[in-house]
Amino acid sequence: MIKKPFIVGNWKMNLTLREGVEFAKSLRNSLNDRNEVICGICPSFVFLNDICKVLKGSGICVAAQNIHSEKNGAYTGEISAIMVKEVGCTHVLIGHSERRHIFNEADAFINAKIKVALSVNLKPIFCVGETLHEREDEKTRYVIENQLTGGLRGISADHIRDIVIAYEPVWAIGTGKTALPQDANEVHSFIRSFITVEYGIDTANSLYIQYGGSVKPENAGDLMAQPEIDGLLVGGASIQLESFLEIVEVASTH
Ligand code: 13P
Repeated sequence: MIKKPFIVGNWKMNLTLREGVEFAKSLRNSLNDRNEVICGICPSFVFLNDICKVLKGSGICVAAQNIHSEKNGAYTGEISAIMVKEVGCTHVLIGHSERRHIFNEADAFINAKIKVALSVNLKPIFCVGETLHEREDEKTRYVIENQLTGGLRGISADHIRDIVIAYEPVWAIGTGKTALPQDANEVHSFIRSFITVEYGIDTANSLYIQYGGSVKPENAGDLMAQPEIDGLLVGGASIQLESFLEIVEVASTH
């Protein structure tokens, strides 16, 4: 199955509202009718409404960076799946390593978030990845398998089709160290085998698996050349329009 590369920029806690809106307008103009690549951005919560308006009808996806696991209720300061869906988001990042490690999010909580996102037709970009320590201890597969098992518990094959998995080795995030394309490919292949066993080959083949961790215009081509890498989740290089567009351009040739 031929899949268009899916390139998503995770802005994290960066940019101002004005900069974000300008970025979105320029991205829309630059991509125009180009459709070799599926593109998305993850702005801060407080920019989502404005940016979704700018990108409405463009085919560019907007993802929230997080949601709470409950549909609604007394959770001061939290944002629900339906709220981000209502302003126009199509996707949501769930289980990003910064949420796992800085905010101590555990697999069961992540699993509940995935379920609540799916219940309102918001597509989760479900992030998994090992720390440097775990990689050095040769525990990468063990860690990824546990994250997949915990995060996807109770999710049916029908719903798996709406999930994107992002492999983001923690040691490669924001460090300038990218996984070797072949090493990343091997983990992607492991993820796809896991999905094949649990959900069957057709579902596994249709699943998007993105790579994230110090992706830049210079390494995007080698990463996208790997057969198991279907897209990229870009952090630092996505907050400058120029470098993000360069990555999209490189990806469009794969
Ligand atoms: P960097 O590209 O800055 O390493 O961040 C990757 C990431 O965390 C994307 O979600």
